[in-house]
Amino acid sequence: MSVAGNASPTRDPRLGFATRIGFVLAAVGSAVGLGNVWRFPYVAGENGGAAFIFIYLLCVAFVALPVLIGEFAIGRRGQRSAVGSFRVISPGTPWWLTGLLGVATAFVILSFYSAVAGWVLHYAMVGAFSGFGEYTREESGAFFGAFIEGFGQPVFYQLLAVLATVGVIVFGVHGGIERVSKVLMPALFFVMLLLILRSLTLPGAAEGIVWLFRPDFGEIGLGSVFDALGMAFFSLSVGMGAMITYASYVSRESNLVTTGTTVAGLDTAVAILAGLMIFPAVFAFGMDPAGGPGLVFVTLPSIFSEMPAGRLVGTAFFAMLFVAALTSMISILEPVVTCLVDEWSVRRGPATTISGLAILVLGIPACLSVSPGAPLGQIMIPFFGGSLGIFDLMDTLSNKLMLPIGGLLMCLFLAFSWKSRGALAEVAGTGGNPDSIWLRGWFWMAVTVAPLGIVIILVTGLLDLVR
Ligand code: PHE
Repeated sequence: MSVAGNASPTRDPRLGFATRIGFVLAAVGSAVGLGNVWRFPYVAGENGGAAFIFIYLLCVAFVALPVLIGEFAIGRRGQRSAVGSFRVISPGTPWWLTGLLGVATAFVILSFYSAVAGWVLHYAMVGAFSGFGEYTREESGAFFGAFIEGFGQPVFYQLLAVLATVGVIVFGVHGGIERVSKVLMPALFFVMLLLILRSLTLPGAAEGIVWLFRPDFGEIGLGSVFDALGMAFFSLSVGMGAMITYASYVSRESNLVTTGTTVAGLDTAVAILAGLMIFPAVFAFGMDPAGGPGLVFVTLPSIFSEMPAGRLVGTAFFAMLFVAALTSMISILEPVVTCLVDEWSVRRGPATTISGLAILVLGIPACLSVSPGAPLGQIMIPFFGGSLGIFDLMDTLSNKLMLPIGGLLMCLFLAFSWKSRGALAEVAGTGGNPDSIWLRGWFWMAVTVAPLGIVIILVTGLLDLVR
């Protein structure tokens, strides 16, 4: 078992990932989540399918992936929390504030993420205990609306989701996160493949595949590019220090360009596979591919109600989606816990409890403000020329502003504070060649294309909102 990091006599040694594959699976577990299966298909659906996917791929390859590799390097070099790692690399400078912004972002993301994870859990329970028989085309939307606009139920399931997250994190990186990721991630891929087979073999499925892969650039505007950038950051879990934190628990051997590309490749593959799982079924049943956020919670249950073996398929789908959400929630909360442990010497148990409770302060209001009819749905907050409810504000704020700004700061940190020599040596890993063309290519992208891309898309996207 590897013990990574600063073991001091007064503090427990940081018990890190024992195996390389454990780290990779945990990072993939972080990346693959509601972003891939819930958000990606509906955002692609609203933005014309393949054309959006194309822009999304560009954002992943040229912006989010370079930032991901940078985050891995910062964490592995620092061997501390997102806040502490910046301090280790550039002592006496204010760059650690980037890590602090990340901790704040974690609260914002988890507030709405845990609510949606709770919905997933609810639907898994519906599948397991009563089936989707009543979720007909006509009724499915009403069921979903009544559920999310309720009071006790959505909060109850949100609490369960947070409790599950806390229950894993409390056992630490090796005993909790690595162990769970190693079992759940392969299981997730397996269930997903079965579901894709089911979807693709439905009569009329081909139309969905054609729709998914035939680009319609007419639907693409500035807003779509802004959406794609936020989606890329969110889906790869970059911009808030989640990947810094995970990498801080790993030892020096591997080449981070390879690891980063593997994680980004798997994450993107899962997003596209989620499309292949959902759209053939949507078309086979003559539903609307641009169903918005309700695609997974309204459209799919009504498909399950009509499909042969729909109850089994539907229950497996929501159970799988909960697993994906859980491994992501773990990676959102762990940076907060690691920060308390590393920077303030709080023990892991209390640190986990405190941060789990703190998440609810923002999480419960978000959960209760999903739509205008929800208990807190009438509270509207001004945002760039319009106004948003609490749930939508948390979602938009984190995706479109906080993650890209966090990513931008990391690029600037690489360019102006850490500089190429140190960063390249870290990315190469022990025995690797810091002068290789891949590594130089990465650094060049991380300090030019990525930050410029972020600034341009952010500024034009925000101007577009205000106009
Ligand atoms: N990547 C996760 C998903 O797609 C969400 C996430 C965002 C996780 C930011 C960690 C940090 O669902």
